[in-house]
Amino acid sequence: MAILITGGAGYIGSHAALELLRRGFDVVVVDNLSNSHEAAIDRVAELAARPVPFHRVDIRDRAALDQVFRTAPIDAVMHFAGLKAVGESVGQPLRYYDNNISGTIVLLEVMKQHGVRTLVFSSSATVYGDPASVPITEDFPLSAVNPYGRSKLFIEEMLRDLCRAEPEWRVALLRYFNPSGADPSGRIGEDPNGIPNNLVPFIAQVAVGRLPEVAVFGTDYPTRDGTGVRDYIHVVDLVVGHINALEKLAAGPGLVSYNLGTGRGYSVLEMIEAFGRAAGKTIKYRLAPRRPGDAAECWSDASRAERELGWRATRGLDDMCRDVWRWQSNNPNGYA
Ligand code: NAD
Ligand code: WQD
Repeated sequence: MAILITGGAGYIGSHAALELLRRGFDVVVVDNLSNSHEAAIDRVAELAARPVPFHRVDIRDRAALDQVFRTAPIDAVMHFAGLKAVGESVGQPLRYYDNNISGTIVLLEVMKQHGVRTLVFSSSATVYGDPASVPITEDFPLSAVNPYGRSKLFIEEMLRDLCRAEPEWRVALLRYFNPSGADPSGRIGEDPNGIPNNLVPFIAQVAVGRLPEVAVFGTDYPTRDGTGVRDYIHVVDLVVGHINALEKLAAGPGLVSYNLGTGRGYSVLEMIEAFGRAAGKTIKYRLAPRRPGDAAECWSDASRAERELGWRATRGLDDMCRDVWRWQSNNPNGYA
């Protein structure tokens, strides 16, 4: 079975490519390298001991994407390509809507033209907006609090409409909580551009000496230690969930949606401490005001995925920190 991976040079897409190759799938990677490096593909090929067909293509480029579908048979698409920085999306909404929404429309049209109607889509827990309570189930009301989140929400709605209009489509909406971790080889991992927005890569760069200290955003939340609580999920568990979703789609057409999380939350201070344990150092931090737009707690009820996909996260906090540290300490400057 051949899977087209859009955004396959990126953090999650590269781990998906590796896991698929390890399980004997064929993959084709499409990425415009706007937020990634071709070296990630080379390392996936090296780890899998198999060549990885790679096309440097923007998914909005219909002719180029059409050409990719002509060069190799494709059975299904895992769609990771997208811009994902929440703050940036507030300042550049049109760029986000064009890249994420227009890109997905072109992809769906080209898929249709080539008779490919199976799609696993990278959605996000951001589609739950500011949740009224935790844990979050898939039936919670959906909303968006920034253009990035709105782009995910629109794409979900678009896919629902498509499946209603053309019932032969098979679509899985996978709502990720907070992906973290890296392949245990330490050869591939998350390599954000500039100063990281997200907590774990920030901590990792403090640990490796690239940044002086972590700012803990908010210490007066109604949580066990006053800092924000999130559901950090190991990227390898996450990509295994995608393969289970693909198997589910093989059983019949329709649209399904799943939370991919661990079902438990850790606070910012717990994360800093766990990372310090993994790296064998004390991570310097300072207490800072809340970051606007942050919820106190966001963690999943992941029981639907367990029930219907037979999937659950098996890697814990210490595995995650250990694997991030191996990646970061072996590659202090990422892929550069
Ligand atoms: P990433 O930036 O590392 O990977 C995305 C990849 O898509 C990059 O390699 C980028 O170059 C590529 N890309 C972007 N626009 C493209 C376009 N128009 N054409 C071709 N390639 C394009 O991000 P990631 O963390 O691997 O995220 C993958 C997906 O998962 C994204 O859609 C993101 O929104 C979603 N997601 C991520 C998180 C997270 O915290 N990492 C959480 C929830 C959802
Ligand atoms: C985690 C916790 C911060 C940085 C974001 C997106 C979400 C999804 C995942 C894509 C929070 C605190 C952070 C720092 C800190 N992405 N923090 N100091 O905000 O839960 O989710 O990534 O879909 O849409 O919003 O993740 O890693 O930024 O923050 O104290 O330097 O760490 O306040 O409590 P978040 P995060």
